[in-house]
Amino acid sequence: MKPVILITGATRGIGFAAAKQLAARGAQVIIGSRNGRRAAEAAELAGGGAGSVELDITDQASVDAAAKQIGLQFGKLDVLANNSAILLDHYQNLLELKPEVLLETLNTNVVGTLRVSQAFAPLLGKSEAPRIINVSSGAGQLDGEPQAWAPAYCISKAALNMLTQQLTAALPHVTVNSMCPGWCRTEMGGSEAPRTPDEGADTLIWLALEAPHSLRGKFLKDRAVIPW
Ligand SMILES: NC(=O)c1ccc[n+]([C@@H]2O[C@H](COP(=O)([O-])OP(=O)(O)OC[C@H]3O[C@@H](n4cnc5c(N)ncnc54)[C@H](OP(=O)(O)O)[C@@H]3O)[C@@H](O)[C@H]2O)c1
Repeated sequence: MKPVILITGATRGIGFAAAKQLAARGAQVIIGSRNGRRAAEAAELAGGGAGSVELDITDQASVDAAAKQIGLQFGKLDVLANNSAILLDHYQNLLELKPEVLLETLNTNVVGTLRVSQAFAPLLGKSEAPRIINVSSGAGQLDGEPQAWAPAYCISKAALNMLTQQLTAALPHVTVNSMCPGWCRTEMGGSEAPRTPDEGADTLIWLALEAPHSLRGKFLKDRAVIPW
């Protein structure tokens, strides 16, 4: 039976690249977007019978409605790819960062991811081999030199990595990991980035379909574990 895979924020960028490749490999992909029409158009473009769902990860009612829709359509969820994120403070100085910008960033990148994971946990519980993949970033790594280019975004991705560890502990039957796609040419990454969205999606796809379930509670890049 086809694995049922929900990718949040998958109308463009890395999420869409992952959706297209996973659909081509026979998965039942569901593309999430705040805009239902754009989600349906992206599903059509992705091919392979991909479905779509309207899903704003900052809105509890929207998340609950999406979980209800997918429950009715498929009765389970095998893979939840938490890909949605915002980056509002490119090259901002931390000392001038407005607290509201940090709160908005955390509300999407961290609280939104938790909200979706909570709402879909019962459907993941119906899968024989459930997985959660949190699309994080090297920007959130505590290892190495401090990064100063987008403080709210970096803080949110470090928090997302801890959320990955917390979800791993809270959901012992689910294989939960964080991954970094590398710097990719998307709306968020910009045109100077060295990687294509397809290249950025590779580890997500591997985690969704092939990675051993014993690999859990880790942070990965290029299919290998990296330091937090
Ligand atoms: N690009 C890079 O270089 C890079 C590097 C490291 C990590 N990442 C991570 O990779 C992931 C994908 O990034 P990308 O570059 O593909 O970004 P992108 O093109 O800007 O796409 C981000 C997606 O997030 C969705 N989104 C934003 N707010 C949302 C909300 N409230 N509810 C639901 N969806 C929401 C948007 O979907 P809708 O507008 O359709 O709702 C959009 O499709 C992100 O987690 C990002 O942090 C990217």
